[in-house]
Amino acid sequence: MTFRKALIVLAGIVFAMPVLAQMHNDEVALPDGYRDGVHYTTFRRGGITEEIYTSAEAVAAARAGRPFAEGTVITMDDFRGGKLTRILVMEKRAEWADRSASGSWMYREFAPDGTPNAAEDGKRCESCHASEAANDYVFTRDRMMD
Ligand code: HEC
Repeated sequence: MTFRKALIVLAGIVFAMPVLAQMHNDEVALPDGYRDGVHYTTFRRGGITEEIYTSAEAVAAARAGRPFAEGTVITMDDFRGGKLTRILVMEKRAEWADRSASGSWMYREFAPDGTPNAAEDGKRCESCHASEAANDYVFTRDRMMD
């Protein structure tokens, strides 16, 4: 490879980097009908209210002391001042284990109309949730047992 070609390849890698970063979590979809699943807890602090949903299978796993099954999805409606401002989704899939800093969970943020937030690649989410490794990366796992 000539020096010139090497430079072109290098420039290509540098320009592609922000695009790759955004694609880190783009397989996480907003689940259809999640509000018809199990609404297992509400968090209130100041003007913030969080309504958290998952499947009956996930609740059963928590109660049995088992890790969550592959395919588990947990969804959180985040209200500020009574208004839905964003929807947070975390999903567990075995094939994400070498990509995530949080077990095999990937994370994504959506606007209330379902549009993904392209500025949020989920890495911040992974690193904070990593502190809950003992609870399979789910902060509210104990609330599923109530
Ligand atoms: C600074 C730490 C932190 C970051 C960053 C963070 N979370 Fe969380 N997350 C929490 C805590 C703590 C809870 C428990 C509820 C609460 O206290 O509000 C939570 C709860 C959740 C839940 C409900 C399941 C659970 O773990 O209890 C989901 C889903 C979720 N977060 C997704 C996300 C997504 C998606 C992102 C990134 C866009 C994100 N989180 C970023 C700390 C964080």
